[in-house]
Amino acid sequence: MIKIQQNYESKINIYPLFKNNLILEKTQGILNNLINKDLFTGEKNTLFHTSTHLGNELVHHIFIGLGDSSDNYMEILRSGIANACKKANTLKEKDVVIQVPNSIINGEALENISTAITLSTYSFNKYQSKKKDSTIEEYILVGNGLDNFKKNIDEGVLLGEMTILSRELANEPGDVINPETLAVSAISLGDSSGFKVDVYDRKKIEKLRMNAFLAVSNGSSYEPQLIVMEYMGNQGGEVLGLVGKGITFDSGGLSLKPANSMLTMQGDMSGASSVIAAMGAIASMKLPVNVIAVVAACDNSVSSRSYRPNDILTSRSGKTIFITNTDAEGRLTLIDALDYILTEKNVDKVVDIATLTGAAEVALGQKIAAVITNNDEFMNELNNAANDTGERVWELPHDDDFMKLIETPYADLNNSGGRFAGTITAGLFLGSVVGNTPWLHIDIAGPSWSEDSDGYFSKGATGFGTRLLYKLVKNTILI
Ligand code: BES
Ligand code: ZN
Ligand code: ZN
Repeated sequence: MIKIQQNYESKINIYPLFKNNLILEKTQGILNNLINKDLFTGEKNTLFHTSTHLGNELVHHIFIGLGDSSDNYMEILRSGIANACKKANTLKEKDVVIQVPNSIINGEALENISTAITLSTYSFNKYQSKKKDSTIEEYILVGNGLDNFKKNIDEGVLLGEMTILSRELANEPGDVINPETLAVSAISLGDSSGFKVDVYDRKKIEKLRMNAFLAVSNGSSYEPQLIVMEYMGNQGGEVLGLVGKGITFDSGGLSLKPANSMLTMQGDMSGASSVIAAMGAIASMKLPVNVIAVVAACDNSVSSRSYRPNDILTSRSGKTIFITNTDAEGRLTLIDALDYILTEKNVDKVVDIATLTGAAEVALGQKIAAVITNNDEFMNELNNAANDTGERVWELPHDDDFMKLIETPYADLNNSGGRFAGTITAGLFLGSVVGNTPWLHIDIAGPSWSEDSDGYFSKGATGFGTRLLYKLVKNTILI
């Protein structure tokens, strides 16, 4: 719970400070002491914790270094605030004051502070008997004129909460979040935040001729679910389409994954969970935009009914696909979802987001998503959104030449292109049904997952894409 106060005494005080502006009226004594001893300089990404005595009690002071105020400090701020809050949560107090200096009293900074506070307490620990639950119940922001930024604070909290929702869905095991429970989660979020949800079962999916999607679902006893979400906040305006990869567990199918590679594959619906969570944020904020989102949810499992290598599928678009690897399943569900949203829903622009290729992680590491696009302007908009949220993206080349890698003598497309340029060929595979509609394909295999709990991350799913898609949508109304 975040509150605003003019003045408040707490046993824990957090001070975010720029190195070129180390001024802190109330605690200048302590600060000068640290500066003299070179213990705190305000250097970016530093944290210093010290305590003083007040009678028998300890008062804690946590200093956050924000670096130079003329740099883009938002990521440093998010990370620093979250780390300071995590520290505060080990001190067994019920409240904490964040002393906000004038230099960061602006809408953007306060929104980000609120997101960081909200995310700092999350970890996927609900199945642990002895939880290290946070003790802090109130985060009190103290500073000049904070009342003017209540909306930004609420928006920041909402974005934190929706990111947590996305993480939670992706962290839950594959039997807890299966296609049906994923659909139920979308329905209940739609109810609470105000967007419409339709869920179609196998029969309807067959009628829609989404045969590539159906083939992937065949090996599992979980029924596939086509989840369609609509939020129309701008009658007559352009419609943006969002498509999220929703494989609730990816065993690899008959082209079975090695044991270790399978370990995080309950999170193979991270694209879907971020799309669903972004819809929650967009609808809750009642943004004047139109968004239709589609998730083709299924489980990629192994049985005698599994689709196989050497199968030839006819996708909804009519393009035929030769299967060389059943572990390249995401593009099969997505090619049908994209064709559905383009031809049935007639969206004007479309974004798909997917944990699609291990190759993306090899190329760009675990912090940056790979992007394939057919539209520079749309890419610029994505770069701007990424700049706002710190969810980094990087465009890869996609000249027609790469198409050779997914050619086959047996069908129109090969579902896997082998070792080279794996992220690009996966993207081009999807692009083959998109035509000229402005399109962004975001491969989040790397940044959907975090190995450690630094800053506003927790070990496990990151919810990458939730804030990014929200900003991408929101920024279009500011232009
Ligand atoms: N879900 C995986 C991709 C993935 C890998 C996501 C690591 C997150 C972390 C995807 O379905 C897959 O298995 N892709 C194959 C494609 C290959 C067979 C062409 C891959 O990346 O190896
Ligand atoms: Zn796979
Ligand atoms: Zn997958």
